[in-house]
Amino acid sequence: MRKALDPGAIVVDPVQLDGLDWHALFGNGRPVEVEIGTGKGGFLLRRAQALPSRNFLGLEWASKFCRFAADRFRRWGLSNVRMVRADAAHFIRAQCPRDSVSVLHVYHPDPWPKKRHHKRRLFQPAFVDAAVARLVPGGYWAVQTDDAEYFQVIRELLLGQPELREVAFDDPALGLDAASVATNFEIKYAREGREFFRIAVVRSESRP
Ligand SMILES: C[S@@+](CC[C@H](N)C(=O)[O-])C[C@H]1O[C@@H](n2cnc3c(N)ncnc32)[C@H](O)[C@@H]1O
Repeated sequence: MRKALDPGAIVVDPVQLDGLDWHALFGNGRPVEVEIGTGKGGFLLRRAQALPSRNFLGLEWASKFCRFAADRFRRWGLSNVRMVRADAAHFIRAQCPRDSVSVLHVYHPDPWPKKRHHKRRLFQPAFVDAAVARLVPGGYWAVQTDDAEYFQVIRELLLGQPELREVAFDDPALGLDAASVATNFEIKYAREGREFFRIAVVRSESRP
């Protein structure tokens, strides 16, 4: 039998997300932002601190990083963040309610640069189709990578979606810095002088 959700717990068992009800997960009906591939959680920590009237879900496949990020959120006393150790593609397709996510964040998704590994990439047509349908109408999706080739793939997939339109990365409604999202990977790669590629899109308010 499925255990009842503990509204105070930061780490959520992925099984608890079957039939997900955001209101039950957070104990309120505030807008929800999702970050895929949270890593050590630096971005989510600052975003959740800056926007206490929003709820945040971090999805991280590596249990070590999931625990690390959750410990940080706990130490800072954040009540508006939850972490799940799960495959984000599965969560988006099978558990995330449609029309429910205000902002989707994906920063430095694993690039899998070898051609024979491209099928392991997060950004595949079926994933993008599913993720667009999970955004609220008028919801945003922001992506950053340091891989120029993967960026072109991501850009084409996003702009090939009839419901998505590109907006400035620092669109005021999105509240991101045009120059930096300051994730742990961005900070590390910036020291190496790497170039970053960014795109932000918004889902139309009405269906095409
Ligand atoms: C390159 S790191 C970037 C971490 C963080 N976003 C940053 O910029 O510092 C990619 C992260 O995504 C996680 N990840 C990769 N595929 C995932 C998936 N399908 N679902 C959830 N997390 C995933 C990895 O475990 C890793 O922590």
